[in-house]
Amino acid sequence: MSSLRLIDLTLGQFWKGTHRIWKKDKRIAVILGTIFLVCGYYFYQSVTMPVRFLFINKNIDKQCIIPDLDPFDKSIMKYVWSPDPIHCDSLPDLVYVDDAGSLQYNRSAFKVYNVQDIKCSYSPLIRPNNDDYSVTFGDEKFIDIPYQVPTDFFKFRCYTKPEGKMIYETLQESVYVTESMRNSKAFEDPDLSKYSIFMFGIDSTSRLSFIRKLPKTYKYVTETLGAYIFKGYMKVGDNTFPNVVPILTGKLPGTEDLPNPAGTKYNINKLPFVWQNFSREQYATVYAEDYPIVAAFNTDGSGFLEPPTDHYLRPWMLGLRKINFVSDVLKSVLLPFEYKNINLKKTSSLCFGNKPIFTHQINYLKRFVTLYSSKLRFVFSWLVQICHEFVNYLELGDEDFYQFFKFLKDNGHLDNAFLIFFSDHGSRIDDIRNTFVGRIEERMPVVTIAPPQSFKQKYPAAIKNLLDNTRRLTSNFDLHETVNDILTGDFEGKLKFQLNSKRGISLFQPIPESRSCADASIPEHFCACYGSTDISTKEPLVVKASKFAITYLNNLLKKYTHICAELMLLKIHEAQLVSLGLSAQGEEENRWTIYKFFSKPEAEKHKRFLIIFETIPGNAMFEATVDYHVETGMEITDDISRTNKYGNTSICVPEKTLQKYCYCKTMLKQ
Ligand SMILES: *[C@@H]1O[C@H](CO)[C@@H](O)[C@H](O)[C@H]1NC(C)=O
Ligand SMILES: *[C@@H]1O[C@H](CO)[C@@H](O)[C@H](O)[C@H]1NC(C)=O
Ligand SMILES: *[C@@H]1O[C@H](CO)[C@@H](O)[C@H](O)[C@H]1NC(C)=O
Repeated sequence: MSSLRLIDLTLGQFWKGTHRIWKKDKRIAVILGTIFLVCGYYFYQSVTMPVRFLFINKNIDKQCIIPDLDPFDKSIMKYVWSPDPIHCDSLPDLVYVDDAGSLQYNRSAFKVYNVQDIKCSYSPLIRPNNDDYSVTFGDEKFIDIPYQVPTDFFKFRCYTKPEGKMIYETLQESVYVTESMRNSKAFEDPDLSKYSIFMFGIDSTSRLSFIRKLPKTYKYVTETLGAYIFKGYMKVGDNTFPNVVPILTGKLPGTEDLPNPAGTKYNINKLPFVWQNFSREQYATVYAEDYPIVAAFNTDGSGFLEPPTDHYLRPWMLGLRKINFVSDVLKSVLLPFEYKNINLKKTSSLCFGNKPIFTHQINYLKRFVTLYSSKLRFVFSWLVQICHEFVNYLELGDEDFYQFFKFLKDNGHLDNAFLIFFSDHGSRIDDIRNTFVGRIEERMPVVTIAPPQSFKQKYPAAIKNLLDNTRRLTSNFDLHETVNDILTGDFEGKLKFQLNSKRGISLFQPIPESRSCADASIPEHFCACYGSTDISTKEPLVVKASKFAITYLNNLLKKYTHICAELMLLKIHEAQLVSLGLSAQGEEENRWTIYKFFSKPEAEKHKRFLIIFETIPGNAMFEATVDYHVETGMEITDDISRTNKYGNTSICVPEKTLQKYCYCKTMLKQ
């Protein structure tokens, strides 16, 4: 505790000093006071952080039993609530980009700006060569609208005529098809037997969180688009980088695939990103991400020297920071308050102009798919800000995501394209991940695949595999192989498929039911599989569970007590305990918090027993699954099955479903 005492003293001295200065110079005192408060706030936050436990799964070599959780489990619902809607600026756009990519006036907005005649200019946003971290603006050029600006991003301004007063300024995002793209082979004759691929990812979203927070999108994706949702999909790394890199390259950072002995940023410029393969196959490519300061390839990775794809949104996001540095920096201070519905300014920090930044990103993607609609397209979109730190914000995107997918469908973009909606992991917010359900959710990101209609008719075997695989253990490496199959157009495993020979198996191929985390290369920290172990048949809970199952059977036969004998336990032949192998093995990082001394991860409250037992009279053998919950007691989840022949012993019961349980009293007399 001495370090606390020391900090206490230091802060005390600091405060006293500030007080003395107050008497001499009020301005300096205010600055010091503010620093004191901010430091105090951060200090308070850091010592009250929940402990982060390190979990290890003992079951990694066992066949995976996939967790089956309630998205609305009580323990999680404590942390689930609805934030206020986003309020952005109310002023409309004075110009917009039309479907052909040209700037057009929005005449109806002139009234709002109270102008009749205006002149406008643009300054191109320039990404310096070999630099993924800064942008500059080129010279301002006045233009006559409509106008096709020959670049994706530019500062756009309008002035009154003739006074020259600036009335409008924005950083416009657009999609410009360059001369060299126009002349590329893709524009001559794309191979239309191939499929486009739209990967739309959202950070920190588990499958359960997808169900809870994006109900409209979930309904649309499952019911209208017929997407497959992979219920056994697990992450292979801790945060974004080690999960997204395997999807896009098939390699796992921090291993011999991509070593990083120095612990510095990974050099990603030599990595074989799959978008390069798509480019070589004449696809038009785009990569868009919204939160440049924690970007997927710029935090753990070195960033890209060259733009990685034909269209690359990052410079626009950096441009926002450039034109509005103060508000961009303040954002990280204001957002935590806004999240608690305390609004220190009129509009939300999630906005730029009159819409959320994620809506700008979606508009950019819409323009891309529209401009290249007759071509093969590869889209990789990654949204971070909406739920990286603040899980409950996710629902603010539901309407936009739904509208975007509906736009894709209604405009025919999905006729020949796979839509993959995915994430890297679940919520890593410490409070949630110390709950039992949260611990599993964190390891199980959402992954859904909606294949085009035409594909369903053409490849029924692949469709059957997709469906079967929704209930199998799967991971990022499998998603990578799936993307590769879309790239090569190999949906029948002609090119390479060899069962279990490597860590990734395309989701278009059958994935063995017996797969373990070790088979799938899911590390022990991230494996959320349940496993079953033999346990003694004398275990009190096993005996209790068997008796519970027999009482259950006798209850089913209640109507027929006059003809069926009451069943009694003769012997328990076999018992297995199904449990989550994840158990806490110390702390993930040694950070000092006051919870260190008394916080424990929530224990597993639920156990499942598989038991085989024999009853008398009649020596019937049964197999039952009995769920045991610490709070609610025992429950039979599945049908109890009969495992030996019953012949004529139950001939007296008219109900077919009860015949396997009843032992007719008439048999006793024989
Ligand atoms: C044009 O301005 C009107 C308001 O006058 C606004 O409602 C509308 O959304 C704007 N259109 C575009 C395409 O931005
Ligand atoms: C993608 O390209 C890389 C080289 O950048 C190559 O090694 C890899 O085999 C390609 N993948 C497929 C599925 O063709
Ligand atoms: C069951 O009963 C029927 C007639 O009641 C008889 O024909 C049959 O052989 C019996 N089967 C067994 C396995 O006892």
